[in-house]
Amino acid sequence: MGSELERLHARIRACTLCGLHATRTRAVPGSGRVPAEVMIVGEAPGFNEDVKGLPFVGPAGRLLDTLLRQIGLSREEVYITNVLKCRPPQNRDPMPHEAEACLPYLRLQFKLVQPKAVLVLGRHALERMLPGVGPISRVHGQIFVRSGVAFMPCYHPAAALHNAALLDDLQKDFDRVREYLDRLLGEERAEPEEAAVEPGPEPTDPEPPPEAEQLSLI
Ligand code: URA
Repeated sequence: MGSELERLHARIRACTLCGLHATRTRAVPGSGRVPAEVMIVGEAPGFNEDVKGLPFVGPAGRLLDTLLRQIGLSREEVYITNVLKCRPPQNRDPMPHEAEACLPYLRLQFKLVQPKAVLVLGRHALERMLPGVGPISRVHGQIFVRSGVAFMPCYHPAAALHNAALLDDLQKDFDRVREYLDRLLGEERAEPEEAAVEPGPEPTDPEPPPEAEQLSLI
């Protein structure tokens, strides 16, 4: 599995599928373990990530590390990536055609990581991964189960850096992630067969949006 991931990362580093390849310093495929229980998906690389070729290595990344540490996880034991693998100039919002071009990579990463929980960071990742569920301000901290995998929207750490109220919400959302994982892992230990079906504290699984809008990671 490890070398499959390395081959995928090499493909992403050489990708020219959209115009962002012309302005990037480095593509940012992702980092961490495969398989991993937790996968984290942000929006797109920023300045620091573009320079280093690694996700979440600037101020937002330091906050992400702290949040993970507070719930007993480290960057090394999760898999971290973004919807876009290349930095948009001046950190502008991702364009739909750029996200479409990158989507096959995210799908392949998802297959290799085989996560039990996916943290969806910020509204852009939410729009791509759980279209139609509602705004991040309403759905953050909720759990959306898709084919046995829990998708958990959270505010983006960059948004929480300068907003104490959002930071408080983000910490609470991460606490829910911990609770969910503890419950899931406890159930798996007790009843391995049944736990994979519908674990967690009251997961919400509203009507999925029309097929065309789905990320269909799975
Ligand atoms: N913001 C993101 O969404 N991703 C990164 O990798 C860094 C900042």
